[in-house]
Amino acid sequence: MTITVRRYVKRLEHLYKRMKLRFVPVEREYAGASNKDIFETIYRDARWDRSADGRPNSGPGSHYADLVDPYVEAIRDFVATLDTAPDMLDLGCGDFRVGSRIAPVAASYTACDIVASVVASNSEHYNIPNVEFRTLDLAADPLPPADIVFVRQVLQHISNANIASFLEKVSAGQYRYLIDTESLPRGIPFKPNIDKPSGERIRLNFGSGIDLALPPFNLPHKSARVLCDVPDGRFASIRTTLYELR
Ligand SMILES: C[S@@+](CC[C@H](N)C(=O)[O-])C[C@H]1O[C@@H](n2cnc3c(N)ncnc32)[C@H](O)[C@@H]1O
Repeated sequence: MTITVRRYVKRLEHLYKRMKLRFVPVEREYAGASNKDIFETIYRDARWDRSADGRPNSGPGSHYADLVDPYVEAIRDFVATLDTAPDMLDLGCGDFRVGSRIAPVAASYTACDIVASVVASNSEHYNIPNVEFRTLDLAADPLPPADIVFVRQVLQHISNANIASFLEKVSAGQYRYLIDTESLPRGIPFKPNIDKPSGERIRLNFGSGIDLALPPFNLPHKSARVLCDVPDGRFASIRTTLYELR
């Protein structure tokens, strides 16, 4: 009897979670706005989070130790397996809380974001000799050279059309590895790569998440492996996948 009740409660929890994920609305307010305007607004209004000093930041995924530490360790472990220190390109670097911990193991580190004020603030606050900051739109602009490209919790915020434009450039042959980090539903089957308009919310809000190996993206790659998978609450995980591109 107890087991039946427990199962029933579990089933209800499961249904509640799925409904919650499905009915959080995606953003409509940005219709017609440019990528640049959208992400500038998000930072201006601190829609992800604020630091203790009151400044807008890139959100919990960039600041909570339980979400960031395992990622940093996994990336450093992977870099340690390479013959030489790689040149790294961090696209959508945000407030650089995460990138600043990876840069010390790079030969060079180019950290880019679409929001000029975030890039300016990073340039002011971080003085790491091998790091260069740049403002660019990963979907629209030419991308700088590197061995490894990082997109950490970035693609989950942008439309499928923007992701496809980015992947076209990444697949053109100049990069050896792509390391992609995405928030995904955990413990339930889900339909990947459902489209959404670009904005602060992510596909997890309606029970989906990005998998670049699957349609419509079908990222060409030689091999893929999960470098780390960090639980984020009960129903999500933040998964980092290494794609060997050539
Ligand atoms: C949630 S934050 C993640 C920041 C950082 N990667 C991290 O893990 O801490 C997403 C970042 O992607 C940036 N971004 C969104 N669209 C972009 C685009 N098209 N080109 C470059 N950066 C973009 C946003 O401005 C934001 O700083």
